[in-house]
Amino acid sequence: MKRIKAIYPGSFDPPTNGHLDLIERGSKIFDELVVAILRNPEKDPLFSLADRRKMLEAMTSGFDNVSVDTFDGLTVDYALRVEARAILRGIRALSDYEYELQMALMNRKLQPGLETVFMMPAEKYSYLSSRLVREVAQLGGSIECLVPDLVEQKVREKIDVAHKFANREQSAGKTPSEGKSKFRKKKL
Ligand code: PNS
Repeated sequence: MKRIKAIYPGSFDPPTNGHLDLIERGSKIFDELVVAILRNPEKDPLFSLADRRKMLEAMTSGFDNVSVDTFDGLTVDYALRVEARAILRGIRALSDYEYELQMALMNRKLQPGLETVFMMPAEKYSYLSSRLVREVAQLGGSIECLVPDLVEQKVREKIDVAHKFANREQSAGKTPSEGKSKFRKKKL
């Protein structure tokens, strides 16, 4: 019987418990699942590609049929390169649907043989996104239970470093706009 390999592409900046939930579900229906992190220099991510890869590798080490990889360019080209037959994507709420449908149909136009499979994460993660995790953490809120412990620690480290940097600049008399910290410069 033919083995079915799927990719789960995304930015994973940072990976959350919602991503992990979907990986677990995907690992149960596909023979092989590759978590594929998009290398997207335009997005100015909080975590480097290497950091995101390390976090995802640690998070998925318990799954025999899950691996982690990085890619750039079109998702469909990457899928073809690794001989995947499906793209796994999560849908949390109706609001995700329009964007996901658009992407799935475009991917189908580009590569008709490749199927997109949508799965729903557990309801408790239906409001969870990497963007909100970054924002809540940056503003001092707790991200416990939203991300795995190792990710929580990494996010905290990042934010502490950024705050130290910002404080140092402030004591040096620089205005916020002169600073280089992405926590002040960029809306997370
Ligand atoms: O986690 P994200 O940011 O929602 O993931 C979006 C992702 C990486 C799946 C999407 O941006 C993507 O596939 N990018 C690769 C470029 C591409 O194939 N673009 C055409 C999509 S129809």
